[in-house]
This record gives sequence, C-alpha cells and structure tokens, in this order.
Amino acid sequence: MASDKSMVELTDIVKSYPRQGGETTVLQGVTERIGEGESVAITGPSGSGKSTLLNIIGALDRPTRGQVKVAGEDLSSLDEPALARFRNRTLGFVFQNHYLLPQCTVLENVLIPTLALRDAEEKSQALGQAAQWLKIVELDHRMDYRPSQLSGGECQRVAVVRALINSPQMILADEPTGALDRKSAESLSELLVDLNTVDGVTLVVVTHSGVLAERMSRILELRDGKLTTAEASGEA
Ligand SMILES: Nc1ncnc2c1ncn2[C@@H]1O[C@H](COP(=O)(O)OP(=O)(O)O)[C@@H](O)[C@H]1O
Ligand SMILES: [Mg+2]
Repeated sequence: MASDKSMVELTDIVKSYPRQGGETTVLQGVTERIGEGESVAITGPSGSGKSTLLNIIGALDRPTRGQVKVAGEDLSSLDEPALARFRNRTLGFVFQNHYLLPQCTVLENVLIPTLALRDAEEKSQALGQAAQWLKIVELDHRMDYRPSQLSGGECQRVAVVRALINSPQMILADEPTGALDRKSAESLSELLVDLNTVDGVTLVVVTHSGVLAERMSRILELRDGKLTTAEASGEA
C-alpha cells in the first residue's frame, strides 16, 4: 500500500532541552523519510527521544533545528492555530494513556475532534462514522458508558476511534499497547495493522513491544540521538 509519495520528511532534526547549567541534545541530526501508506515502528531505550521525535512529527513540538515536512506541509511555516488545524485534519494520535475525558460517554469522547465542525451535514456524517467505527472495534454496545466503566483495552480502542474520526492520513501512536494486558495488546495491534493494510492509513508507532514492531513494514531504532534501521529479529 506504500506509494512513492512522502508522508513524512525529516531533514537533520536536532532537539535540545535546556537543563541546569546547559542543555541536553536528545535528537542529534535525524534524517528520515516515511512514505504514504507505510507502517513504521520506532524502538529504542527509554529516554532515547522516541516521544520527542513522535511529537515533532505530530506538530505537537518543534525541533531546535532542521526541517519537518508532513503531508507536503513545511511545519515551520505554520503558526500555532494553523498547526492545530493541520493536526486535527491530517493526524490522529494514540498515547499510552488513553486521555479519554472521564465525565464524557464513549460516544462523546469519540466525537471530541469533530466539535469544531460547523456544518450540520458534516456533523451527522461524523456521528455515522463514530457509530460505524465503534461497531468495528466491538464497542457499539458501550456507547453510553463512561471510561471508568471500561477495561484498559476498551478505553484504548475508544482512543483509536477518536483518533480516526476525522479520517486522518496518518496515525501516530506512542506506546499504544504499553498499559495493556497481552490479549488486549494483541487486539489493539490487530486494529492498528488493519487500519494500515485495509484503509491505507500511514502508521508510525513507538513501541517496546517486539510483537507490535514486527508487524510494521519497517523498524527504526533511536539510539544516541540518531535513527537507524533496526535488524529484523524475526521473533517477538
Ligand atoms: N519538555 C522537556 N524538557 C526537558 N527535557 C525533556 C523534555 N521532554 C523530554 N525530555 C528529556 O529528553 C529525553 C528523551 O525523552 P523522551 O522523548 O520522552 O524519550 P522516550 O520516549 O524515548 O522515553 C529524556 O532524557 C527526557 O528527560
Ligand atoms: Mg516515550
């Protein structure tokens, strides 16, 4: 499903954080291209900068130096409101913790990214999409539940549906199975892989799970601030 078009182009990305008496450089010149429709795992030791890199790709953070192009947009040319629109239109995020709003139902949570829609037809389309996706992840019977009434795996599936509701071109997932038991992790992995292979959504997943990483078309490893292609181990 991968095409010749680029979804992500990172050119010599450097990211430093200030710290007492100096700065820490987490990313030391990352250059990488991810094609439209690819599925890529980013692995690496804890603290190696995986979340930092994913946040830069996702326009949640800016690099200290270097160029980030996502879906053809040079992110440095966009101001904050434009970045917010870009994220909402183009990207879906899934984090280790689902960040569902506890006071909202499953359906309301899923519809949060569509709150900015003004058009009544678009709104009703979004509602239809939400119902359809919740059925696909087998949570249509839980639409009126609140997150506290669901298991961790179910919450994470709701978070995926929320990430999908605006039909993003790319899903960025940061340790999406990190807090799940084995069975829930497998079913979430299955869902993410299907989104890529069946629906053609570009997928970038930060993961410690060999099982999930092995299911991506490419595995990259972040180490000492650099991104390299990891050897496929062929085992979990
Ligand atoms: N906002 C921040 N301010 C200062 N240091 C940070 C910030 N975010 C991350 N770091 C540091 O950058 C390094 C990489 O963090 P992170 O990207 O979260 O790594 P990973 O996701 O691979 O565990 C860590 O040493 C972390 O402490
Ligand atoms: Mg992290």
